[in-house]
Amino acid sequence: KNPEGSMTRVAQYGSKFMSEAKQRKLEQKREEERLKRLEERSRVNGDPLEKMMPRLNGDQARQSAYQEWQKQAKRQEYGPRSNMSIREQRESLPVFQKRADLVKLVAENDFLVVVGETGSGKTTQITQYLAEEGFAMKGVIACTQPRRVAATSVARRVAQEVGCKIGEEVGYTIRFEDVTSNKTIIKYMTDGMLQREALVDPDLTKYSVIMLDEAHERTIATDVLFALLREAVIRRKGGLKLIVTSATLDSAKFSNYFEQCPVFKIEGRTFPVKIFYTKEPELDYISSCIETVIDVHTNNPPGDILVFLTGKEEIDTCCETLVDKMSLLRGENPSIAELIILPIYSSLPSEMQTRIFEPTPAGKRKVVLATNIAETSVTIDGIYYVIDPGYVKVNAYDPKLGMDSLIVQPISRAQADQRSGRAGRTGPGICYRLYTKNAYLNEMGSNTVPEIQRQNLSYTILMLKAMGIDDVIEFNFMDKPKQNSILTALEELYILDALDENGKLTDFGQRMAFFPMEPLLSKTLIKSIEFGCSDEVITIIAMLSVPDIFYRPREKRDQADKAKARFHDYNGDHLTFLNVYNKWSDAENSRVWCQDNYIHEKSMRRAKDVRKQLIQIMDKLDRKERRPRSSIVSCMGNWDQIRKAFVSGFFKNSAKRAAVHDAEEGSYRTLVENTPVHVHPSSSLFKKHGVDHVIYHTLVLTNKEYMHCVTKIDPKWLVTYAPRFFRSVEPGNMSSKKKNEKIQPLFNRNDPKENWRLSKGRR
Ligand code: CDP
Ligand code: MG
Repeated sequence: KNPEGSMTRVAQYGSKFMSEAKQRKLEQKREEERLKRLEERSRVNGDPLEKMMPRLNGDQARQSAYQEWQKQAKRQEYGPRSNMSIREQRESLPVFQKRADLVKLVAENDFLVVVGETGSGKTTQITQYLAEEGFAMKGVIACTQPRRVAATSVARRVAQEVGCKIGEEVGYTIRFEDVTSNKTIIKYMTDGMLQREALVDPDLTKYSVIMLDEAHERTIATDVLFALLREAVIRRKGGLKLIVTSATLDSAKFSNYFEQCPVFKIEGRTFPVKIFYTKEPELDYISSCIETVIDVHTNNPPGDILVFLTGKEEIDTCCETLVDKMSLLRGENPSIAELIILPIYSSLPSEMQTRIFEPTPAGKRKVVLATNIAETSVTIDGIYYVIDPGYVKVNAYDPKLGMDSLIVQPISRAQADQRSGRAGRTGPGICYRLYTKNAYLNEMGSNTVPEIQRQNLSYTILMLKAMGIDDVIEFNFMDKPKQNSILTALEELYILDALDENGKLTDFGQRMAFFPMEPLLSKTLIKSIEFGCSDEVITIIAMLSVPDIFYRPREKRDQADKAKARFHDYNGDHLTFLNVYNKWSDAENSRVWCQDNYIHEKSMRRAKDVRKQLIQIMDKLDRKERRPRSSIVSCMGNWDQIRKAFVSGFFKNSAKRAAVHDAEEGSYRTLVENTPVHVHPSSSLFKKHGVDHVIYHTLVLTNKEYMHCVTKIDPKWLVTYAPRFFRSVEPGNMSSKKKNEKIQPLFNRNDPKENWRLSKGRR
């Protein structure tokens, strides 16, 4: 009867034998019960974030939006981007062949593992199928992504397919940016945001289906969600479905963990990829990349190129060099085709990001220089050539060193295979590996180590504690983190006052967990209220959370650096950021002002937005704790207070100028580990004399260990504001090695067990 067939069927599997009226009644009853439960719970707990809970009007809006959608009134037939209609594009994806089987499996199982080649349509299609089949009647359909760029770009694409504005039926939520409404049916979000929602509503009552996408990436948040959602699905008895999708084949492990659930495979269309290795290890992979791109472009048949690099700086440098080389080459030989050079990394503005998806005009070639994001999260059509230098930048934590740093490391064999696979989606392709076959076979690890086994866990453990999960050692992780890194995290939370001696969450820790940010930052923020400078600290944190404030075009580096120097505060980068923000406010957020001062206007607007949201969170906390007066206070120019507030959070990231004889000029040593570190050349304290003690925001390891965002401090503050961590040592009691240091960390970092015993039963 219905020409659209299954597309407009509202029936839910399992309930399709019920009459519609009966079903609606049941629906209503469930809804009433759910609301009653919610109300009861918020009465018991006095839930502060009840606003995040679904409310009836929200659900009604979503349901009527859904019905509208069902009528297909808003369906757009033709997409602007390709000569295929949107429908044709959708139906050409491998997952489309499996639509019916897939929907049936979801209906019949609480857990499902889906494995499929990248680009087969998992991320963009499965959510839509489920919505079309009526799952959205019972709640929002969510899909998590490890990366912000993937969440936003995929949401935009799906909104386009559905034919709605982003934020209406299809939306996304990433930290400090919520583009959803009460009409939202399909919601893409970072795994970190869903983890936060689980903190407020452990049953995730708002959702009917949750798809944990890109599970093979094994981010900490995804790993934590594995465990939390497993419990939630069981508690909700069929009301919540969990789909775990992965691009690799370690599906048996996932299936085992999720109650032996079925594994559904989607075979992609893949073509053979020829792989070339280098004969010798490459010393300079950047220039080797550039040479290979030019070589492919001038000698090989049409087809776009994808290059994997490790980060923004590398990508920008490569892009610039390529632009220069190409204009030289085409100047000499105008018959060489145009090469469209496009970067993609997470801090790139979104308009730039979408450009990589535009089809390449005939007679031209496109080269995309990407971070690891193009490995599996983002699929670019038309790639025939992949250039893989074999490196990736990861955030790694060394519990022994007690340091978090961004390091560039070799990829695993599984990653190498994923990367080369990108060349074989449209036709037979070629992958140039800029390393030797021997390195591939004998030096690379076979699989990527889950993040949870290499990163700092303090944020995660604070979250778990705030959810009432006290025994973090026994928490049901799929792969347990090393006990040592749990201990280190517990210790870190203890010295931050978030936990007491018994490992129990303190009131202070409870407040810290309220903020979606690393414990060092949340502590600084809360302490800044006492220091009377929360207004300023909020601004600085907002500025720290956006990438790229300063604009530094290559041809105008000197002018840009001079312009930046005018904002420098002699006490360091935190205050320099505050300066920039204040001056921009004085200039009434003017665009011209940004241009004149070599400031990225986009980043400033974003910082303003983050600032606004931080203020909202502070207000919420005030209301929760029934404070009559606002916690947002200004120090009215007494900026020492700001530095003290940062010391109270970042005391662990402190360094002392090294004695001249034991280091190159200008280098420091960390107070915790005595590791040599350097002030990054972009800092306002670079090559500044008379700065003996500093704290830094992050440590980045490139050719040296660099401190980023550095601020001068008074060493006495360390003892005053971090008494659990530092003490002054009487000169007589000092070992000869420590003679020059008047301040000593209390903890013996090499053996956290010495100082920190597990809370469980042993104290
Ligand atoms: O998740 P999976 O890797 O299986 O595939 P997907 O991300 O759903 O991508 C399916 C198709 O959608 C790809 O062929 C992409 O070309 C297209 N797509 C797009 O055009 N723009 C995006 N932002 C994301 C996907
Ligand atoms: Mg995907």
